[in-house]
Amino acid sequence: MNAIVEAGGSASAWVADVGQSSAVQAIVDQLLQQYGRIDVLVNNAGVVYQKLMEQLTDEEWLQVLNTNLNGMFYAARAVIPVMRAQRHGRIINLSSVLSTVARPLNGPYATSKGGINAFTRALALEVARDGITVNAVAPGHILTPLTVPMFTPAVTQAFEDRIPLGYLGKPEWIADAVAFLASSHARYITGQILYVDGGFNINGDLPHLEFGGQVE
Ligand SMILES: NC(=O)c1ccc[n+]([C@@H]2O[C@H](COP(=O)([O-])OP(=O)(O)OC[C@H]3O[C@@H](n4cnc5c(N)ncnc54)[C@H](O)[C@@H]3O)[C@@H](O)[C@H]2O)c1
Repeated sequence: MNAIVEAGGSASAWVADVGQSSAVQAIVDQLLQQYGRIDVLVNNAGVVYQKLMEQLTDEEWLQVLNTNLNGMFYAARAVIPVMRAQRHGRIINLSSVLSTVARPLNGPYATSKGGINAFTRALALEVARDGITVNAVAPGHILTPLTVPMFTPAVTQAFEDRIPLGYLGKPEWIADAVAFLASSHARYITGQILYVDGGFNINGDLPHLEFGGQVE
């Protein structure tokens, strides 16, 4: 926010639980009152429980789905009439590489992110003739305050062996992809899932064997 103000812009922040549709609608109403238009929506809120499916409570399952997936729907539903009236809008949803590749202990998270990919495509089609684009950014393994404790040296090494580019990602690189999709450079892109994961989602190689994929 400070960077926006220092660059001569105007910025403000509100806090709400994205899983509560009335709270999301109230923020959109406030925004509209203050700025008169809404050009970009970035659906970023996300939570994860690292548990086996059979160990999850109803509340944990529902919290992940409600925050990651329902929240996205509530926010998009609230801004679409505004963007439609403007005939301009960019909606960018934060998905994950786990929307596509499976890993134990991430059941509700992966389910929500797979839903986000389908939601992105379905919504993109509905609003395409109104000047609104809808895309998702699917990060791979990024060092954030949330994930730093997970990346011990051994875990980091295991991931670096598996990521084709060979290193973990930085939050700024995700922000770069979001900024691109929000910009006019991405005007002809809609309904796409942009993986920012160092190539992780395409990798079927066996990193501990020399070109281990050649087994046919
Ligand atoms: N860090 C990664 O490696 C990674 C990888 C793939 C996808 N992602 C996705 O990127 C997004 C950001 O993740 P992050 O790593 O920066 O995590 P983070 O925990 O740092 O940020 C998530 C934010 O969501 C907010 N939030 C959680 N529940 C909320 C709710 N009910 N209402 C409003 N806000 C809520 C939290 O306060 C936090 O600010 C998430 O959607 C996450 O799933 C992250």
